[in-house]
Parts: sequence; structure tokens; C-alpha cells
Amino acid sequence: MTTTHRVIDLRSDTVTKPTPAMRLAMAEAEVGDDVYGEDPTVLKLEQRVAALMGMEAAVYVPSGTMGNLIAVLSHCGRGDEMILGDRAHIFLYEQGGSAALGGVHPHTLPNQLDGTLDLMQVENAIRSENVHYPVTRLLALENTHNRCGGRTLTVEYVDAAGALAHDNGLKLHIDGARLWNAAVALGLPPGRLVAAADSVSVCFSKGLGAPVGSVVAGSHEFMRKARRMRKQVGGGMRQAGILAAACLVALDQMVDRLAEDHANARLLASGLALLPGIVIDPEAVETNILYFDVVQPGLTGAALSAGLAARGVLINPTAPQQLRAVTNYHIGAADIETVLGAVEDVLNTGYSGALSTGHLYR
Ligand SMILES: Cc1ncc(COP(=O)(O)O)c(C=O)c1O
Repeated sequence: MTTTHRVIDLRSDTVTKPTPAMRLAMAEAEVGDDVYGEDPTVLKLEQRVAALMGMEAAVYVPSGTMGNLIAVLSHCGRGDEMILGDRAHIFLYEQGGSAALGGVHPHTLPNQLDGTLDLMQVENAIRSENVHYPVTRLLALENTHNRCGGRTLTVEYVDAAGALAHDNGLKLHIDGARLWNAAVALGLPPGRLVAAADSVSVCFSKGLGAPVGSVVAGSHEFMRKARRMRKQVGGGMRQAGILAAACLVALDQMVDRLAEDHANARLLASGLALLPGIVIDPEAVETNILYFDVVQPGLTGAALSAGLAARGVLINPTAPQQLRAVTNYHIGAADIETVLGAVEDVLNTGYSGALSTGHLYR
């Protein structure tokens, strides 16, 4: 009798699958044509998210990438400049869409290890009036910060960044793909984390486990532009209530449990820190994302990843000697023990099989 081992997938929280409650809600969802603004389930989701974010309005979009795109293109015109981090998702993993599709000029500044930007550098990067310069219109931040190990931005920092932006006539957009994780980790309502922002994009298809979708929130005036932009980039959906229904279940049932993902990430980090050949600072793990380095001679990140895959554990390499693990709804504490055992096994026995392609996953 063949025994099938369950694959432990720590590649991302984007791999999460809808819960039975979501599937039921999807099947029973009230729907209408959302382009006409007639889908009651989408409208309900948009109103709830706007209220949660302390903002006037919101629009449902198919992805976080589109959420960020329509936000940037609603704040900036062609040739305008956006200041963001050199490790921001918008800069690294969205194909330069805001530049390619909207002609927005990105001005990157180095992200600090904690995901912030040095506000003095931001202030110095804001262009003055000069015919040689683009006009700086937007500051974009990310909370939690994916490439900076799921670190949270504090309210004090975001408030200060917002004040700096507004004092200089800029808008502040927050890529809040994992804002729910930041809110749970900081013990604050999500609306408080974006109080200083002009717009935010939040995802439901990551730690919250919904199959599809993000929501962008902001003022009525901003939303009038964003809704038009959504249509222009092909994001106007019809009976999208079927998808929005799962997002409403996620809001009711999947936010608080993110604390379990955070605890499992800390459990994994402290276990990895005990393994010779692995370097990680467990104190730096605040939410569900962790990066660790493999420093065992002759063992690369890709080889460790492939060795783990051969043992039913999926963790992606993100650099020659670095890997990223992301805990999620499908991973329990017992799985963490299995993962640690698999890592130790590869460290002890090495790996000489085919290397994983190792996409630099989001
Ligand atoms: C910080 C951040 N922003 C935006 C996105 C884009 O979301 P999506 O995959 O829904 O386009 C991701 C994806 O993982 C992300 O990590």
C-alpha cells in the first residue's frame, strides 16, 4: 500500500486554499454586475474594508499587483515620480507596471532591514520645482514588508512618513498586502496603521486564505479615479460577488488566527537557529515570513531547497545562500518539527540531485 506524504508548502502564503466555509459562502453568494456597481456582495466587502481602514471608499480588484498599480496611477500622472524602497514589491515584482503602463518614474531608496525608509533620505529625495526634475507626487511604503522578512512598520513611523509626505505636497500609499499580519502582530486595528495614508491596498488571497482578490481604499475623490483606472487595466469584473463572499468570510474568521502563523514562524526560526550550518536571527521574526542563510560549505540555497523538496517540504531559495519560508493556514506546529528534521537531514547527508529552479517567489 503506497503511503502519500502530505507536502508541507512554505513557499508563500499565496498557496493557501479556500476553507469549506468560504466555498459555501461562494456557492450561496448574492451577485450582480459589479461594473454597474450592482453586486451586493462586492459592495458589502468594499464598505467593510473602507470602514476598517478608516477611509471613505474602496474598490475590489483581482490582485494585489493591480491594487498597487491602480493606486499609483491614480495618484501620479505620466512623468511624475514615486519614492519607494529598493526592496519594495512594487519595484521588484510587479514588472515595473507603473512605469510601463503609466509612465511613472520610480525613485528608489535603500530599505532598512526593518522595512522602513530613512525619512531624512526621503526628504532629501523630494524634488524641488525645477525644469530638469520630474514632480515627486507619491511616497509608497509596504506593511508588512515582504523582502525585509515580514517586518512591521510602526504607527509612529507611518505617521511621521505621512506627515513628511503631506508637508511636501505628496500622497502616501501603503502596499498592505499583509497589513492584517501587521495589525495582529502589533495588536492594533488595521485602520490605525494606515491613518496617515491616502490609500492602501490589502490582500485577501494570502494569509487570509481567500481564493482571489484585494481591495484598495481611499477618499471618494481618489476612488473615482481608481475605479476608472481599474476598468482601464481590465479589472472591471461582473458577478464578482462569488469571490468577494470568500473575502467576507476571511474577514470574519481568518484574521485573528494569523497569530498562529506568526507563532509557527517563530518556532521555525528558533529551531533553525539551533542547526549548525544555518544562520537566522529569531528576534527579527515578527510575522509569518522568515529568511535564513545556509552557511555549510558546499551546500547552496538551491541545493537545500531541492533536498527539502525531495523530502516533501517546499521552501524557495531567494539568493545563492538564502531561503525564505512563509507560514500559513495549512501549516501546524507539528509540521514545523517535520521541517526542522528535514533541514537537519539535508545538512547531515547533503544533496546531489537536480537543483530546484528556485523562483524568487513573492
Ligand atoms: C508585499 C506584496 N505586495 C503585493 C503583492 C501582489 O499580490 P498579488 O500576488 O495578489 O498580485 C504581493 C504578493 O505576494 C506582496 O507580497
